[in-house]
Amino acid sequence: MSVETLTLDLAKIRADFPGLAGGWHYLDSGATAQKPQSVIDATVNAMGRDYATVHRGVYARSANMTLAYEEARRKVAAFIGGLEGEIVFTRGATEAINLVAQSWGGANLKAGDRILISTLEHHSNIVPWQLLRDRVGVEIDVCPLTADGRIDLYAAQRILTPAHKLVALAHVSNVLGSVLDVERAVALAHGVGAKILIDGCQAVPRLPVDVAALGVDFYAFSAHKLYGPTGIGALWARAEILDAMPPWQGGGSMIDRVTFEKTTWAPAPTRFEAGTPAIIEAIGFAAAVDYVQSIGLSAIHAHEAGLVKTLRGALQAMNDVTVFGPEDSAGIVSFVIDGVHPHDLGTILDEAGPKHQSVAIRAGHHCAQPLMDHLGVPATARASFGLYSDESDIAALIAGIERTKRIFG
Ligand SMILES: Cc1ncc(COP(=O)(O)O)c(C=O)c1O
Repeated sequence: MSVETLTLDLAKIRADFPGLAGGWHYLDSGATAQKPQSVIDATVNAMGRDYATVHRGVYARSANMTLAYEEARRKVAAFIGGLEGEIVFTRGATEAINLVAQSWGGANLKAGDRILISTLEHHSNIVPWQLLRDRVGVEIDVCPLTADGRIDLYAAQRILTPAHKLVALAHVSNVLGSVLDVERAVALAHGVGAKILIDGCQAVPRLPVDVAALGVDFYAFSAHKLYGPTGIGALWARAEILDAMPPWQGGGSMIDRVTFEKTTWAPAPTRFEAGTPAIIEAIGFAAAVDYVQSIGLSAIHAHEAGLVKTLRGALQAMNDVTVFGPEDSAGIVSFVIDGVHPHDLGTILDEAGPKHQSVAIRAGHHCAQPLMDHLGVPATARASFGLYSDESDIAALIAGIERTKRIFG
């Protein structure tokens, strides 16, 4: 790909995001991304002009809404290289992983079976497996990290045995930005007969993802980190796996026939979407996919890689800053400053002054407390980029760090 096609028109892009206006520097896209006007418009129209329920109405408005909802499913599926019948709309990545744990895990795992996760997982990819452990008695193994903060797949190879039935790993770490070699992880998991679930929450906004090419079994992500609405995400699962999974929540829509004696289920993916779905959010999700595709994930990835390089370089030039994660982290940079708690840094950065604008970063454990324990810190400061981030955001952050250090003497 030529350099030209990888260069983003940032002035145009930034104008698409009303949330960036108001003179601040938003470096918390890893927590949640700002929304382009096209996503806002799509949700406003879905909630206003076009609003009706789906799957039930016999009137034209509802039929149209059903078409739009199912079109959203097709778009989201195609976006990650899947088939429409393989996408379950969930509340987000968290619910997608809980769905797999409770439905697939409950039906397929038994006491003594093992699950492999890693040290860098988000709590969403730890706690659902602990709940399953408490329910059915599976064992959880934790794959260590390499010195630069990647999931150590050589260690995974040594740990994995035929007792492992599932490997569940983050595609991109929400703290370190490290990118998993998914194909290799798939080969290792499948080599011992285990299924593999990938938490793609931080990957889908930053990297081209093709679940079919990667060969994974489950892939989970959230719309709100992909410039879409909150309250919706997706579980992708290989069709034959999804078809064989039992429902995990009961109610309207997910049934075929209900009597007091016996209920039969709708086919997948509807079987996993009990109740009136997040109609407006699904339409916003599809608009977000359209927006991201109009820019292109290769270009977004290259853009964020450039920003990461600049920021890491500037932080590493300060002798009182520790920068975590690998050099080629995807869009996310975590660090600590000697003698300054990340929360204090975050608070000072947030204060605008006569000569500077506020900078929004995340400070805390990032829902990855075991990783904080591993790093030996209670918290880190984290700057995370979006497709709209630019060098001025980095300059403001660096100036804010210098200011904070002066305040702390
Ligand atoms: C890597 C990772 N996994 C899972 C999640 C959970 O996503 P959500 O809260 O949207 O369900 C997040 C959100 O921060 C994340 O970064």
